[in-house]
Parts: sequence; C-alpha cells; structure tokens
Amino acid sequence: MQKGPQMKLISLDALEPGKVLGRAIFNEKGTLLLGAGVAVTSRYLRRLKEMGYSAVYIEEKGYEDIEVKDVISDKTRIEAVSTISETFQTVRESSSSDRSGLDKNRVSNIADKIVDDLTGSDNKIMDLIDLKSFDNYTFLHSVNVSVLTVMVASNSGRFNTLDLRDMAMGSLLHDIGMAHVPIEVVQKQGRLTGAEFRLMKKHTQIGFEILQHKSSMKPVISCVPLQHQEYYNGTGYPNGLAQEKIHIYSRYTAIADVFDALTSDRCFKRRLPPHAALQYLSLGKSTHFDSELLKLFARHVATFPVGTTVMLNSGETAVVMKNNQEQMDRPLVRVLKSPDGKEVDKAYEVDLTSQTEYSIRDIVP
Ligand SMILES: [Fe+2]
Repeated sequence: MQKGPQMKLISLDALEPGKVLGRAIFNEKGTLLLGAGVAVTSRYLRRLKEMGYSAVYIEEKGYEDIEVKDVISDKTRIEAVSTISETFQTVRESSSSDRSGLDKNRVSNIADKIVDDLTGSDNKIMDLIDLKSFDNYTFLHSVNVSVLTVMVASNSGRFNTLDLRDMAMGSLLHDIGMAHVPIEVVQKQGRLTGAEFRLMKKHTQIGFEILQHKSSMKPVISCVPLQHQEYYNGTGYPNGLAQEKIHIYSRYTAIADVFDALTSDRCFKRRLPPHAALQYLSLGKSTHFDSELLKLFARHVATFPVGTTVMLNSGETAVVMKNNQEQMDRPLVRVLKSPDGKEVDKAYEVDLTSQTEYSIRDIVP
C-alpha cells in the first residue's frame, strides 16, 4: 500500500525534538523559514515558540493518509500574504495626513486568484488551521479572512464570480486602516485605555477612506473595512448599523474575522481550537452576527479539523480523518490508543455519524 501524507496537529508544548514538519512555515514576505520534511531540533522549537507559534503540523506514525488540504494553492496563499504585507507597508509609508492609495491592480489580481482557486475545485470544508506567528499575524489574518469569507459565500450559491471577487478584495483589505493606527496601540499586549481604543476603532473609517477616496474602489468593496466591526444588533462601530443595513459582504467578513482571530495565537492570548471558537461565536456572540450566515459558516469550517487528535467518550484516543458537513461534530476517526493509553495493535476506524454510541469528549493537544 502506498503511504500518503501523515499530518498531525500538535501543540509545541507536546512536541519532542526530532519530529518532522508536515507543512512548511513561511514568513510574511513569503520566504520559507522551515520546509516540510525538516526535523525540528530543540533550537527550532525554541525559536518557533519565540515567534509566537503554539502548534505545528508534523508527520506521525498512525496518521498515515491523513492529509490536511488547504482550500487554495500554497502558491496563491503565499503570494496573497506577501501582497498584503507590501500593501500595508506602502500605505503605512504614505503620511497619515496624505493617506494615499494602494496598488489596486495588484490586490485585485490576487483577489481574483483566491476566487479562482476556491471556485475551481470542490472545496466544501475548511480543515486547515492557519497557524501564525506574532509578526506575520496581520497579513496571514487578512488573507485567511478573505479565504474563509469567499469560501462560505461561494458555497451559498447566492453570488456570481464578480461578486466574489469584490468580496475577496474587500475582505483582504478589511483591516488596511490599521496601517495608520499607531503601532504601539496595534501591538499593545495589555488592555487598551479608552483613548487607545478610540484610536484603534478609527481603522474602520481610515480603511474606507483609503479604498473609497484614495484608491477609487467600488462602494461594495470599501464598505467591508468600514462595516466589519458593526454588530447585527446595532451595538458595533463606527455607525451602529443593524441587520440588513450592514452590507452582506461585511456580514460575511465579520464572522470570518472573529473566527480567525480567535483561532490565532496573539501576543496577548493563546489560540482557541475551532470547536471552542465556533461555540464562542454561536453562544456568546449570537447578537453580533447574522445568525443565518453563522449557520452557513459552521457548515463549511471544520469543528474538529482533519489531523486533530481527540479523546472519545469511550476513553480511546483517535485522530480525525474526514469530516462531513451534515454533522461536523461526528467525523470519521481512526482509533490509535485504548482507554488505558496503550497503542492498539491494529488501528481501526470509527464513523461517529453511524456509530452513535461514540462521541468526542475533548481534543488532545
Ligand atoms: Fe478590524
């Protein structure tokens, strides 16, 4: 039997030196830092932690044929990240009174590639956790928010390619206004003071201004930076818009924005696993989002992404192999350890959708 990829998502705290990386790690400029197949030494491990990573994908016995597929090509994702990183730099370097425009064609080219990748293949479920460092957060976040937004929207069947391209562009640039918020405020580790929070909130209007007035973009694009912090019940900012007054592109982006922020490591907090982030979105913050769109989002983002190690209610340890949209909390898993923690002689599969006596109790970091 041919061996496929073996991908295990593992917390760096649980990672022992010598394990081999399953996915490459790039910086925000698109430069390769550590390639797939590289053995993680204790020095690399320390460096990864310093950079702000809390988990990586590695190759692991028992995880054969477990492949974590991205919904866009690596090439598109890397190019998008470097485009956004350079766009932030261009905007930051223009004086804040001038706030000149950005290279619209360049961003629109990469927005189109994201849409082409997503609509060109049958991508129904996001199974990849987009791991980030502190330094590359803003740029990887911008790209992943765009990917999530367009992926969910394209599966809704409500938008044509041109709509999706506008949506991709708006969501890629949703935080561009941050380029003119003082860096001390953006990167502050503790709680923001009232004055700092007011400065930070301005990124919505600044972003709008850069896209609408300085870069002559369509209102449906520039409304995304302007409205992505509005809440469905009208308690968001900057204008306290409610429900359908918030443009649909902004409502899609708002959900992807919060989900990606929650599942990313920041200098002030550790990432949440997707199941906890989705719970947070649906229970704690249901007033903030369009609940119909939130339901749609939950059908396309894996609760337990492929490669996640889970503990079943039986006490057995298993790895998630395949998700199904109808019951995201009941994936197909491969059991690797018995309840006493011993490796099973022969790994076996359990389909939680049909074997209803089983359920997932927790994830194993
Ligand atoms: Fe924002």
